[in-house]
Amino acid sequence: MAEQKKLLRALAGETQDVPPIWMMRQAGRYLPEYRATRAEAGDFLSLCYNPELATEVTLQPIRRYGFDAAILFADILLVPQALGADLWFVTGEGPRLSTITTEADFAKLGPVSDIHETLNPIYETVRLLSSALPSETTLIGFAGAPWTVATYMIAGRGTPDQGPAHLLRQENNPLFEALLARITEATIEYLSMQIKAGAEVVKIFDSWAGSLRGEAFEKYALEPCRQITEALKERHPDIPVIGFPREAGDKYVGFAKATGVDCVALDNSVDPEWAAAHVQIDGCVQGNLASRHMVTGGQELVDDTRRIVKAFGNGPHIFNLGHGITPDADPDNVQRMIDAVRGG
Ligand code: CP3
Repeated sequence: MAEQKKLLRALAGETQDVPPIWMMRQAGRYLPEYRATRAEAGDFLSLCYNPELATEVTLQPIRRYGFDAAILFADILLVPQALGADLWFVTGEGPRLSTITTEADFAKLGPVSDIHETLNPIYETVRLLSSALPSETTLIGFAGAPWTVATYMIAGRGTPDQGPAHLLRQENNPLFEALLARITEATIEYLSMQIKAGAEVVKIFDSWAGSLRGEAFEKYALEPCRQITEALKERHPDIPVIGFPREAGDKYVGFAKATGVDCVALDNSVDPEWAAAHVQIDGCVQGNLASRHMVTGGQELVDDTRRIVKAFGNGPHIFNLGHGITPDADPDNVQRMIDAVRGG
């Protein structure tokens, strides 16, 4: 049967006059209805682990804007928690985790086979979503890439330069690699369960890929993404994979071929014309409007949106931001972006 959903058509390599569109962090604090449901849940993690409320916030941006895809509401840091790390969120600051810097810390983590006990509510959210979504909307599951997840597990928090993770990588490389291997294995099982529950596409978020350079990029960004994609394709050959090695720069070139992903998501530091010539030649790309336009609006928002649609217009393209929408965004600017994509 020919595929009808716009997002899946793009991922299958089809060029469309109007690209499908969705937005990273589309369920989030810029929406008053999200803030209300989050208040009802109590806190962010309770919201992630409550299938009914997580389904509700996933659906909110679909109702409001009619995006072509919904992304499961969860977080990349649930995998470390499922592996046994402590995780909590400090309001206004971000995530905190127990740190992993020694063999003794690593030994406290549980086996991959135990993760589903914690993650079962997430699979339930996926099941609820796959029956609640409109028939034209594609359901995207996701996980963090091993390097990005490791940067949080090692430092115990977000870091501007991923210093603690680079330090461990240099000073105790066997421990660093053992941690990456554990996360890689867990990620394969986690994504596979999301697919079994109804995810139609999965996305691998490597938010800190840009801080790896040269051989380190090949070993710790590209290779884990290749391993995850290969294992998923073996089990679920028809499920497309989107890779997001954020701020990879010239390393975006050839990334899809080297890893086997069906689509490369681009951040807004690369010019769309350059990316069309050097990345989109290998297949579908996603991106890459700067998130700040959702705050600043105006004619620039419309002009930049049109420029991106035009630059990627000769190949398969999924319109998106280059990174997540921020809490200070104006919901009306999101509608202006959608109108500029769909209305020309
Ligand atoms: O995109 C979506 O709408 C789906 C849900 C989603 C969230 N986080 C919800 C969330 C996804 C795909 C993520 C991915 C994620 N989480 C990444 C990779 C993508 C990226 O943004 O680079 C990372 C690095 C994280 C870790 C994380 N989660 C941080 C650093 C923070 C705090 C920063 C912040 O924005 O507050 C979170 C919290 C988080 N994850 C929120 C949401 C909606 C805000 C929590 C709240 O409601 O208070």
